[in-house]
Amino acid sequence: MSEKQITTTEILNKVYNAADHEQLMDAYHDWAAKYDSDLVDRFGYVAHIGSAKALDSALGGNYEAVILDAGSGTGLVAEELAKLGYRHMDALDYSKDMLDQARVKKIYRSLFQADMKERLPFDDNSYDAVVCTGTFTYGHVTGDAFSELIRITRPGGPIVFTVREGAYEEYGYRKKMLELETADAWELVSFYDSPYQLEESNFCKMCTYRVR
Ligand SMILES: C[S@@+](CC[C@H](N)C(=O)[O-])C[C@H]1O[C@@H](n2cnc3c(N)ncnc32)[C@H](O)[C@@H]1O
Repeated sequence: MSEKQITTTEILNKVYNAADHEQLMDAYHDWAAKYDSDLVDRFGYVAHIGSAKALDSALGGNYEAVILDAGSGTGLVAEELAKLGYRHMDALDYSKDMLDQARVKKIYRSLFQADMKERLPFDDNSYDAVVCTGTFTYGHVTGDAFSELIRITRPGGPIVFTVREGAYEEYGYRKKMLELETADAWELVSFYDSPYQLEESNFCKMCTYRVR
């Protein structure tokens, strides 16, 4: 089957059932060009809107904040942040194809291709805030990545992320979040169920922490 003939359902199956990193990046390679229209228009994806609102609330309208959009994909979250008035966003994603889609929107200061499962290519306290939407989910990035997000965020800075419902308990995110609270690495600001994809009637946990 040629790339063009792969249906959205097949791509979604590839994305959520990827056996390894290579298969996941292969799925995003197939999906990148149609990601926005498929996810937003067909599936009613709204997690990016909810995340931008949560970050705005945590930043209290500090539009000068320098924000890392981790697992940025095509830049849906940063587009929402830009609408709210934020101007200093960087993107990080492992998929070159997704970053290529994000780049043409011209909303990011810089774009970085890097693996969130490894040490991130930034110094400690590099960012005023981090947002990570749709990336803590099945077959993507585990809670082991939280420590790196904390390291690169300045003390007092917010980290906003979604965890796909179901994966939250099943994939150990909850355990890791609580461990980091107990270790006083971050403190919980807010935690609530937020719509993820309206057409599928599913939710995510919208989590906001503040780095200690
Ligand atoms: C569902 S998309 C979410 C994109 C965007 N945040 C949004 O809300 O539309 C998940 C993104 O995570 C990225 N990703 C998956 N595993 C990753 C990893 N190990 N390191 C960095 N990015 C990763 C994928 O390439 C993809 O762009």
